Amino acid sequence: MERKVLVAYVTMWGSTGKLVNALKEALVKKGVIVNMFDLTASDIGDVAKELVDSPVLVVGAPTVLSGMHPVGAYAALLVKTLRAPTKHAVMLTSHGWSGGAVRQLQSFLEGTKIEVLGVVDVKGPPKEAEYAKVLELAEKIVEKLG
Ligand SMILES: Cc1cc2nc3c(=O)[nH]c(=O)nc-3n(C[C@H](O)[C@H](O)[C@H](O)COP(=O)(O)O)c2cc1C
Repeated sequence: MERKVLVAYVTMWGSTGKLVNALKEALVKKGVIVNMFDLTASDIGDVAKELVDSPVLVVGAPTVLSGMHPVGAYAALLVKTLRAPTKHAVMLTSHGWSGGAVRQLQSFLEGTKIEVLGVVDVKGPPKEAEYAKVLELAEKIVEKLG
């Protein structure tokens, strides 16, 4: 598989968007091909096509009603339904109070062989320490891509 990362994300007020942009920037600097899809403006068929040869999937979706934003949930289910050859996943998410998106992604991925490399879950917009975590995740992704 190629040194490619698929980023499928949705953001309501931009916090998750900031996380995914930071990760993208870090990965691109390291020579990784990043295909980024804003799920509210993307053809799900285009996402599916990229899934087929992207070993790493980044799901960006905030918490909505104690779960993932439903558009993010749709992308996660697509991975499962299509039995995509995704090997590793990362979740970037933002919440307002108690969260829940991470738990839901984990339950979606149960029973798959997808290894979750890490999660960055921020309250509201990301702060410096959380951007640092995003950079750590970028390192991990690069290691896995070889
Ligand atoms: C309709 C709606 C439902 C929400 N439900 C929750 C929730 O159940 N738990 C929570 O912690 N935050 C909840 N939030 C807050 C968002 O997760 C929070 O504002 C987050 O920072 C949004 O991320 P974004 O800027 O990437 O859209 C909700 C927000 C909206 C608009």
